[in-house]
Amino acid sequence: MRDDRDSGSRLYRWLSERIDLTATLGWLASVTGAIYGGLDSRLELRAALRKALAKPVPRHINWLFCFGGITFLLFLIQVVTGILLTLYYRPTPEGAYESVRHISNEVSLGWLIRGLHHWAANALILMMLLHMFRVFYCGAYKHPRELNWMVGVCLLMVAMAFGFTGYLLPWTQLSYWASNVGTELANAVPVVGGPALVVMRGGPVITGETLTRFYSAHVIILPVITVLLLAAHFGMIRRQGISGPL
Ligand code: HEM
Repeated sequence: MRDDRDSGSRLYRWLSERIDLTATLGWLASVTGAIYGGLDSRLELRAALRKALAKPVPRHINWLFCFGGITFLLFLIQVVTGILLTLYYRPTPEGAYESVRHISNEVSLGWLIRGLHHWAANALILMMLLHMFRVFYCGAYKHPRELNWMVGVCLLMVAMAFGFTGYLLPWTQLSYWASNVGTELANAVPVVGGPALVVMRGGPVITGETLTRFYSAHVIILPVITVLLLAAHFGMIRRQGISGPL
């Protein structure tokens, strides 16, 4: 079993065997400075950034108000690690399990990227729930922020859908049967349940069609919905400001 220290030192060893870390960081800093300086002298980026960030943090804000930001950071980690995983993952019944095994065992740092994607997904749900409890505890769901609370509820449902669709992707016995039960639950809903099951599975039973649909939902449909919801969420926070002290 790997522990965190083991993973950290493996990553450090892996990197330092291949590149001179100090020289590379110095080089990166010079290049960034050269690009930023050139852009700033033409576009006045510094002034625009200062204007955007010059919003004083109210005195009553404490660490409880960090959960939303941490959730967002975890979402960004999911985007980056998810994109890296798509470079090797194959969404077919024949290829899915083998590609996931290949990522974990043979691709350089594949175990780390897959592990990060797995644990950041769990942490994201936890942080989102803590964030929701903070908002509820502070009564920030009340007028005038009701709409933002509703957008938040949509974000919660989308996060659940990410977890549900992602679970099928390794195409193991566990993921197959979990998706079977999950889609069967939808079937229990009166009137719309039957059609919803067929739409989700791409037919009456779980097949390669289902895998294609879940993959499409996981990497395209849900990310697009999330970005739109986050834009609305942050736009409203910016417009209304953070709620006052209790
Ligand atoms: C991907 C998920 C989410 C992200 C990234 C996110 C991010 C944030 C951030 C950064 C803030 C600023 C204040 C703070 O962090 O406490 C905030 C505020 C808020 N969030 Fe979220 N949030 C998410 C999900 C939710 C959920 C699930 C709910 C409720 C169901 C919710 C409701 C609210 C409300 C009402 C505010 C305004 C709070 C205030 O003014 O005090 N959010 N969100």
